[in-house]
Amino acid sequence: PPLSQMLNMWDFEAVAKQVLKKEAWAYYSSGADDEITLRENHAAFGRIWLKPRILIDVAKIDMSTTILGQKSSIPLYISATALGRLGHPDGECNLTRAAHTHDIIQMIPTLASCTFDEIRGAARNGQHQFFQLYVNKDRKITEAVVRKAEAAGCKGLFITVDAPQLGRREKDMRMKFDDDSAIQKETGDRVDRNQGAARAISSFIDPALKWDDIKWFKSITKMPIVLKGVQCAEDAVLAYQYGCQGVVLSNHGGRQLDWSRSGIEILPEVMAALDAVGARDKLEVYVDGGVRRATDIFKAVALGAKAVGIGRPLLYAMSSYGQAGVERALDLLKDEMEMTMRLMGTPTIKDITRSHVITDNLNKH
Ligand code: FNR
Repeated sequence: PPLSQMLNMWDFEAVAKQVLKKEAWAYYSSGADDEITLRENHAAFGRIWLKPRILIDVAKIDMSTTILGQKSSIPLYISATALGRLGHPDGECNLTRAAHTHDIIQMIPTLASCTFDEIRGAARNGQHQFFQLYVNKDRKITEAVVRKAEAAGCKGLFITVDAPQLGRREKDMRMKFDDDSAIQKETGDRVDRNQGAARAISSFIDPALKWDDIKWFKSITKMPIVLKGVQCAEDAVLAYQYGCQGVVLSNHGGRQLDWSRSGIEILPEVMAALDAVGARDKLEVYVDGGVRRATDIFKAVALGAKAVGIGRPLLYAMSSYGQAGVERALDLLKDEMEMTMRLMGTPTIKDITRSHVITDNLNKH
């Protein structure tokens, strides 16, 4: 169908399921085990209701904000997703260009299909990007990767901490991985092709990573450090105490531990714990997983998130329509956000507060 017929994120998913090769669909769409957490991620937003306020001047809506001090036109960033070339020949560079069009920030994955230089090359002057890090068992390699990201101008280091071992994504495991164009040459020689794309690319990740290593990261980079994959209040407080600048409440899009809770459910207890140690304004909190509507973005912001990350919807838009698809998806989310903020009586991001959402049922499953 023509791009103009895409009206929401679900439409892109339906088209992607049709056009993607079955191996690519399996890798992108799969969650761990019985996919309980995968489904829960979006379902949890459905347990939060909105309380709109009336007779507030909403003629002008301003949804711009900052993330780690960098401007963003909406409290949304593109989260890191590996293997972009499984979906489209231009891979992650589609996301880079669309991020520029929309003035939002892309997180570059360690396991991108395009090389780091290709992705930085696709970025325009002054376009800010973050870097997602999988920590290598060989810390010399990790140090080189981090220094390269910083030298290239990346504005934040998102260390993925929820994947000491890769989750069982059975749809993906039933496939043989043989798409060499999807994989970076640097990782090409470590490939075990028999059990899906995820296993083929992930054997280098260090399961021995620990809190103490955060000090080492702080000694090798000046980039703000964000832990991606925090899943409880205790760990958010530890992240703060170890000097991180942010945490992403995330279960890796339901691809790691099945039965882990959604980021949005954890958010209120994380904010309460940060309040208790006086750190609400010192640690930025982001949420990802299951964000499909601007009302989801609104709910996260209302509960204290600085921004949300989005993964699959943009992969699906990219796979179906390339850069133009990603731009359209972001257009749709912005249109939805403008309407949501107008109908909620919140003309700017800082007008959005906890009192705009009803969370009585959030912890009831
Ligand atoms: C991911 N995600 C991910 N995260 C990460 O830190 N490093 C990575 O390489 C990847 N790769 C990856 C591939 C694919 C196909 C998916 C779907 C996800 C997780 C991602 O950053 C994010 O946490 C989730 O995608 C958010 O959930 P939604 O928006 O996909 O529901």
